[in-house]
Amino acid sequence: MEQPIPDPVAARRRRLLVTGGGGQLGLALQRAFAADDVLALGHADWDVALPPPPLPPLDLVLHAAAWTDVDGAEDDPQSAAAVNVGGTANAAAIGAPLVLFSSDYVFDGRKREPYVESDGPNPLSSYGRSKLGAEAVAGDLAWVVRSSWLFGETGHNFLRTMLRAGREQDEGAVVDDQRGSPTYVGHLAAATRELVDAGRPHGIWHLAAGGDCTWAEFAEAIFDEAGIDCRVLRITTSELGRPAPRPAYSVLRSERPDAPRLPHWRDGLHESLARL
Ligand SMILES: NC(=O)c1ccc[n+]([C@@H]2O[C@H](COP(=O)([O-])OP(=O)(O)OC[C@H]3O[C@@H](n4cnc5c(N)ncnc54)[C@H](OP(=O)(O)O)[C@@H]3O)[C@@H](O)[C@H]2O)c1
Repeated sequence: MEQPIPDPVAARRRRLLVTGGGGQLGLALQRAFAADDVLALGHADWDVALPPPPLPPLDLVLHAAAWTDVDGAEDDPQSAAAVNVGGTANAAAIGAPLVLFSSDYVFDGRKREPYVESDGPNPLSSYGRSKLGAEAVAGDLAWVVRSSWLFGETGHNFLRTMLRAGREQDEGAVVDDQRGSPTYVGHLAAATRELVDAGRPHGIWHLAAGGDCTWAEFAEAIFDEAGIDCRVLRITTSELGRPAPRPAYSVLRSERPDAPRLPHWRDGLHESLARL
């Protein structure tokens, strides 16, 4: 019987680059795209503020490297911009289709209903301005994926900070006047793969968890779900007194009918705690 001749292009696994490979999202992307041929570069392998090292031909770049120290960016906006804007320009210059991960902090938080892709940005902080600058240089071959309040099992994030603090203290003060959608990096990585695999058009996409809450409500849910006995004292943003202004409301939703839908943030919390 005649055997079908394998198509060498279709049979070839996609070769893709993950930048920020050691970060919480970078690690989740490596898991979500494990069926592909993934080259992950950490900070020590490529400082994205500099031109890239020699690279093999690539089908896709998942650009998760970024300056993510929101308060630190207020002290050193030039360095934050060099990494976030310059780094994105360097990633785009590779010439492969690109996914740029951007942030709810491009918005000023004056709305009281979810931000959609067509809403005008107006960042309040140096970090937010650097992410908006990154969007501007990502190029025509980019999916600009805005997400919010990322957490997962690794790295620096609110979930891990609360688990640590809650085991050491009986009570802790948490901000109750910022509302957003805490997004599990595993869910964002899966939604990113769905976006790319479905061949959705380039441009801005809001991919954040379903539901919304304040940081204090998120902390209470973490303690509840993890069985930690720690009381949350609800405070205001001004009482916390952090250097960088943050939007009071930054819930993201997609107005695109074909956008991947992420699970509720409580499902993300459940899944993340189960993996810890
Ligand atoms: N975290 C959030 O709440 C949030 C919300 C919305 C959007 N985002 C965006 O999502 C993306 C991933 O964030 P994340 O939460 O995964 O952050 P993360 O855990 O801090 O990871 C960022 C990674 O980038 C690396 N990096 C920093 N400067 C670099 C440089 N100059 N060259 C190469 N690598 C560098 C870091 O390495 P070192 O640690 O070794 O410096 C780290 O591994 C970022 O674009 C971020 O802006 C994050």
